Amino acid sequence: MSFSPKIELHLHLEGAAPPDFVRRLASEKGMNLSRVFDERGSYTYRDFEGFLQTYEAATQVLKTPEDYARLTREVLERSRDEGVIYTEIFLSPDFCGGRDLSAWREYLAAIEEAAGAVEGIEMRGIVTCIRHFGADKARETARCAAETAGGFVTGFGMGGNEARGTARDFVWAFDCAREAGLGLTSHAGEFGGPASVRDTLDHLRVSRVGHGVRAAEDPTLVERLAREGVVLEICPGSNVALGLYAKIDAHPIEFLMAEGIDVTVSTDDPPFFHTTMRSEYDALERVFGWDEDRFRVINQTAARAAFCDAATREDLLKRLEP
Ligand code: ADE
Ligand code: ZN
Repeated sequence: MSFSPKIELHLHLEGAAPPDFVRRLASEKGMNLSRVFDERGSYTYRDFEGFLQTYEAATQVLKTPEDYARLTREVLERSRDEGVIYTEIFLSPDFCGGRDLSAWREYLAAIEEAAGAVEGIEMRGIVTCIRHFGADKARETARCAAETAGGFVTGFGMGGNEARGTARDFVWAFDCAREAGLGLTSHAGEFGGPASVRDTLDHLRVSRVGHGVRAAEDPTLVERLAREGVVLEICPGSNVALGLYAKIDAHPIEFLMAEGIDVTVSTDDPPFFHTTMRSEYDALERVFGWDEDRFRVINQTAARAAFCDAATREDLLKRLEP
């Protein structure tokens, strides 16, 4: 695929850690991560809950702001080499100092400084709470987000296990982030069905939904997403790797786009799913025949939906011009 400038809106920092990077840190710290990798050295898990467990186990090696600075450099260099010019990355105060505000500020400063040192790619942070850690921790995370909002931190989001809690439980956290001027996104409609997307829109009032693909099962919701201009951060390779769809051919991205929904393409946790931005694009070209114009449209959608200032958005849109 010759189309090169890409915008990625949905990438988890810990989830983007290459296995070699995690092994190196583990050996430096004398930690044993035997249940994290398979015999070939890849991340191992059986299903979505297993994936979340492996993710959290691998994250144990990230202990200091300097570890996060190293990870940020590694991840951004890889994204840039895939043609990504702008990326929004989920950052987790849960893992960066246990939601303690002064510790969080130190981790964040290290991440921001590292991001500034990588040329050829622009990054913004989306502070993220983790649903299965519960509403109290989400509130503390939202406070961290609100206290550090502006400049580098431009969004607030929620990942984790959709089966835990309801959208209503997280209203306080999202209201707090909204009042701080942050853009809002939440994972929904991945392992939860259409109702999870509807509840997320009604209660958390997000402009973007992480995944949201299960909305395809409900025509009324499809129509609503199109009408309200809700942007879906779709990660096809992630959905296939986690077993939502048997293969990309069965993925609803083409259908959702044809129904008038604003879709974007991201990788989620690329080494966990053996994917990269280039391979996502290649698969969409191969399976659905997407061409340069189609890729330009999804990247323009991403630029318009990005949690960034007007000057950055203008610059991105200019760089996407043919
Ligand atoms: N955290 C990291 N990746 C995730 C995913 N695909 N769904 C929910 N939470 C996540
Ligand atoms: Zn995600």
